[in-house]
Amino acid sequence: MAKARTRYLCSDCGTSSAQWVGKCPGCKAWNSLKEETITDSGKRAHRYSAASPQGGVLTQKARPLAEVTIENIVRLPSGEAELDRVLGGGVVPGSLILLGGEPGIGKSTLMLQMAMMVSTTGAKVLYVSGEESPEQVRMRALRIGTVPKSLMVLPETRVPMVLNALQEDEFSLLVIDSVQTLDQPEVDGAPGSVSQIRESVAAITSHAKSFALPVFLVGHITKEGSLAGPKVLEHMVDVVLQFEGDRNHAYRMLRAAKNRFGTTSELGIYEMMGDGLKAVENPSEVLLGEAGEASSGSAIAVALEGARPLLVEMQALVSTAVYGTPQRSGTGFDLRRLNMLLAVLEKRCGFKLGAFDVFLNLAGGLKISDPANDLAVVAAILSSSLDLPLDRDTCFAGEVGLSGEIRPVARLDERMSEAARLGMKRMLVSGHGKRPPTPKGLTLVPIKRVSEIQRVIF
Ligand code: TYD
Ligand code: MG
Repeated sequence: MAKARTRYLCSDCGTSSAQWVGKCPGCKAWNSLKEETITDSGKRAHRYSAASPQGGVLTQKARPLAEVTIENIVRLPSGEAELDRVLGGGVVPGSLILLGGEPGIGKSTLMLQMAMMVSTTGAKVLYVSGEESPEQVRMRALRIGTVPKSLMVLPETRVPMVLNALQEDEFSLLVIDSVQTLDQPEVDGAPGSVSQIRESVAAITSHAKSFALPVFLVGHITKEGSLAGPKVLEHMVDVVLQFEGDRNHAYRMLRAAKNRFGTTSELGIYEMMGDGLKAVENPSEVLLGEAGEASSGSAIAVALEGARPLLVEMQALVSTAVYGTPQRSGTGFDLRRLNMLLAVLEKRCGFKLGAFDVFLNLAGGLKISDPANDLAVVAAILSSSLDLPLDRDTCFAGEVGLSGEIRPVARLDERMSEAARLGMKRMLVSGHGKRPPTPKGLTLVPIKRVSEIQRVIF
């Protein structure tokens, strides 16, 4: 007979505990344990019995890896070039792809857009909407474009109903928006709880794998910025995509945090328009185009985001602190890194910024964590505090070390070609290490120490 008991599950890592504790014994997170009632119906034993569909796994025989054929893996193009690129060249049949992002960033828009692209080819796509009514989805679809006949929408949160719909028709793609609304009635707990998410996704996974159906799952993000729900969810899926950006800006970045079928270094850039998301093919041009006239406090960094070189504008504002403690704030840039750079400037260049507020901004609302941005940040801060503008055709790529040395950066050749392509004339780089041949039109200015910057740029 089924017996019910109470367990406490960590909402971060899924660790279970018989009693509530403040700190998760598994991942050491504080206050992450949530009470859940579970009915033990002996399901686990049943799951591996030969009669169950998963039991079929046991009938697989070990065979030489060299004899495993992969010819029949054909990737399905999603019709979204940026998405395909981030996935590693299309969607792999039977794969589970989790798309995470903050509310309002455009996850549903991206998914619907992709579903519409795939279904224009005549392929049947099922869009399961647990958050919005079919009318709302239809309204969004109308903004994006014409709605193909083979795109089906199902307002449903109950997993068995979703599986029924999948049995009734042959679909080429399934989108679930969102995984937090899924409800598996066999399992106790409210939708969005650890065990609900885990069991719902497990049920969908087993269907997807046996029918080679690719599945996109939309996932919410907690206020700390991690995917809501148990970490196990990230282990269960094949690909974890992150959709990020600043809601007040139009640009969005799509990247893979995990990818079983490709690299995680690809980056897709989108712009949110009135009629959906548009791929940004030349991000550097767009980002620099926003910059306008030369003004003090602005420097151009040649960053590398994933596999992609990007020219971005760093904006700094240095002003006298009004209150006792000066403020430091960084948008799109790590605050600790900013503090470290300010300390280096003070110690190695004699720039006393202790009594000044320092604000740093990455133009376009992007978030890029490439140490090569250091040099541009330092240049922008110097430019603002001296109130001297920098040339618009000078760019920077170098990491600043604690002793004030400028360190070489990875893949300088690709950065140089991107800089040259966008008409940059001078590029400040590290004077240490080897430098590849310079493309035409661009002059490299190697510097070894942060104290040399001022002499070179003004
Ligand atoms: P949405 O996809 O609902 O975000 P999420 O599913 O991640 O919560 O879209 C978010 C915002 O995008 C919404 O506030 C309106 C805006 N938007 C546009 O600017 N243009 C459009 O064509 C669409 C469909 C939405
Ligand atoms: Mg949504």
